[in-house]
Amino acid sequence: MDRIKIVGGGKLTGTIPISGAKNAALPLLIASLLTADRLTLKNVPNLADVNLLVRILRNHGVDLAVDGKRADGASHLGETFHLTARDIVDTTAPYEMVSRMRASFWVLGPLIARMRQAKVSLPGGCAIGTRPVDLHLQGLKALGAEIDIDRGYVLAKAPKGLRGARIIFPKVSVGATHNVLLAAALAKGETVIENAAREPEVGDVADCLVKMGVRIDGIGTSTLRIQGKDRLEGAVHTVLPDRIEAGTFAMAVAATGGDVLLQGARGIDLTTALEALRQTGTDVTEVEGGLRIVRNGNGLLPISIETQPFPGFPTDLQAQLMALMTRAQGTSVIRETIFENRFMHVQELARLGADIQLHGDTATIKGVKALQGAPVMATDLRASVSLVIAALTADGETTINRVYHLDRGFERLEEKLSRCGANIERISAS
Ligand code: UD1
Repeated sequence: MDRIKIVGGGKLTGTIPISGAKNAALPLLIASLLTADRLTLKNVPNLADVNLLVRILRNHGVDLAVDGKRADGASHLGETFHLTARDIVDTTAPYEMVSRMRASFWVLGPLIARMRQAKVSLPGGCAIGTRPVDLHLQGLKALGAEIDIDRGYVLAKAPKGLRGARIIFPKVSVGATHNVLLAAALAKGETVIENAAREPEVGDVADCLVKMGVRIDGIGTSTLRIQGKDRLEGAVHTVLPDRIEAGTFAMAVAATGGDVLLQGARGIDLTTALEALRQTGTDVTEVEGGLRIVRNGNGLLPISIETQPFPGFPTDLQAQLMALMTRAQGTSVIRETIFENRFMHVQELARLGADIQLHGDTATIKGVKALQGAPVMATDLRASVSLVIAALTADGETTINRVYHLDRGFERLEEKLSRCGANIERISAS
């Protein structure tokens, strides 16, 4: 298994190109199941999760062609995928695959909508809490799907096809919104989703569906009105920039000090996180072509935040903010309201010398003068990148084990950081 070795202490200076958003690319790839025509996606990030989903989609019969290699220096533009689901040959998504990536469960809605039947494994356990799928099933049942659970699989059918309905989600769920939105695109009549997730990635999927011929009102709001169509057309769509990657690098710069342009990052997708960074004393400015993050000399101020659905502070940046606050001049409080058990990074940050107390859903972080490098273990995607941030500021050498978690969601992380002066290196398992 690969490891990452970091020697901390240096500032970050330069430009970091932001990749296409993993959390938009995944549902956009799944949207290819909705049409027999070609869906072209540009700016697809090269990530382990994307590759795994492609394998799952190929199983269903999706044909993929990827545009040739780009010229040097343009690799940050991501890849262009041409996906064609002319015939869906298999409506089963097996446990071996779905259990490895939760988002693959979202094939359920499109498969029932197009094929009127699907058998999709329940996603199973997950490092950051139980993460049920009741809301997904509630939404799809409202659209007319008959659903049984049998031996770990969701068996769904809709012999007469799905029909539009009004769905009020009792809780905001990104995945359930995607699943129902994708299904509603091929349902008969109007579907209204109330309390829909407003994450920019949901808006990106809705924009793509509009290009495929679906009428959707309320994109970007918590009420989505979808006029389903019998048949969707192909389209060309560019995946939006990854706000979580951008926020992560912004926090890394705040932690180490320095001056970095996050090329392609959009402030509008990160308002609350950027506001939090400003409160720490970091300069954040929207400039042409991206976001500029500067921190020179001044100490970090402590802050208190709680995670919330968009536009609140994203849970996917909680671990990174905690890493940053380990070095603040005072005590910070972070409350995690989205996922139980999303504090696995705390133990590992403590190994580097952080002072963090946990009480239920709340972490109290007392800033320390210095962190010390040590061997640590990546536990999940966002937790592992928080260790990278901490290691960049720690004295001496840190080795991060199990970096396959990082490869799931961060494209060329070492390269992007080392180009800005970080002493970071991947040690490949022989
Ligand atoms: C997505 C993101 C993930 C992010 C999360 C919250 C992708 C690929 N993943 O995950 O990075 O951390 O949104 O922003 O986009 N819930 C239920 N019942 C359900 C579904 C969810 O109770 O049927 C709960 C979850 O346990 C959690 C909360 O709702 O407490 C939010 O989860 P959800 O928004 O669905 O997260 P994901 O879509 O899995």
